Amino acid sequence: MICLSSVPNVLYPDWSTKLRALMPRSLQSVIRPIWRAARPALYRARYGFFPPPDGIDLVGYETLIDFMRAKGVFGVPGDIVEIGAFCGGGTYKLARSLLHLRSSKRVIAVDCFDVTFDNTQCTEGIPMSQLYARCLGGRSQMEMFCKVTRGLQNVVVIAADSRRVSLPTDAVCFAFIDGNHAPDYVRNDFLLVWEKLSPGGVVAFHDYGYDLPMVTSTLDDLCAQHRSEIQESYVDAQKHILFIQKMRG
Ligand SMILES: C[S@@+](CC[C@H](N)C(=O)[O-])C[C@H]1O[C@@H](n2cnc3c(N)ncnc32)[C@H](O)[C@@H]1O
Repeated sequence: MICLSSVPNVLYPDWSTKLRALMPRSLQSVIRPIWRAARPALYRARYGFFPPPDGIDLVGYETLIDFMRAKGVFGVPGDIVEIGAFCGGGTYKLARSLLHLRSSKRVIAVDCFDVTFDNTQCTEGIPMSQLYARCLGGRSQMEMFCKVTRGLQNVVVIAADSRRVSLPTDAVCFAFIDGNHAPDYVRNDFLLVWEKLSPGGVVAFHDYGYDLPMVTSTLDDLCAQHRSEIQESYVDAQKHILFIQKMRG
């Protein structure tokens, strides 16, 4: 029997996150420098490549990679699409994961590379454009992206407004959408990838159930409208990510 849940499954934090939350602050400050020194090697042991510089992706794409591994999404036909690449840290992690698996899939990264573009306000009344400018601290987004993704032959960059893009692929296995947060963009970006998403493939959205209520309600509407095409959905409440898996067929 196929389980068609209208309520997403909840994903729980992994053991290391739980352990950190339980640890007293004094112990954390002792462990932190040791952890920092050991981290690149531990990271490589877990993911098969060294991490990019700290803080270079906002979301922490390890959550996406762990999900794809757990649900077998790397084995689904098609490329990976990323809408909203910012400084390329996430693009790097997705592309390096594919190389580690010796996969011929590509990462198609869509970004307008204009941080002034999205003026959607969060519940605190701060526009996204202001938050991005603060993160960049005067650096050029495009320069950062090029530096972080340099040499990655499996990355296809589309520097454009996602509303004006057609995806240069026949099939998509996984998409991560974290571009413009206005409802018409959320809808546009969903439809852009949904029509090319392979059976069993997954589209994930950042900012679900958090401080952009219009993103959440638009996604709830989209899930209701496409319910018969959805296998399952999952929420990572800590990372504010909604994963929607297309019906396996
Ligand atoms: C929240 S940031 C992405 C963060 C990235 N996912 C990460 O975790 O590092 C949103 C990105 O979407 C881009 N963006 C905003 N509006 C866009 C649009 N209409 N089309 C394409 N990209 C857009 C911005 O330039 C910005 O880089």
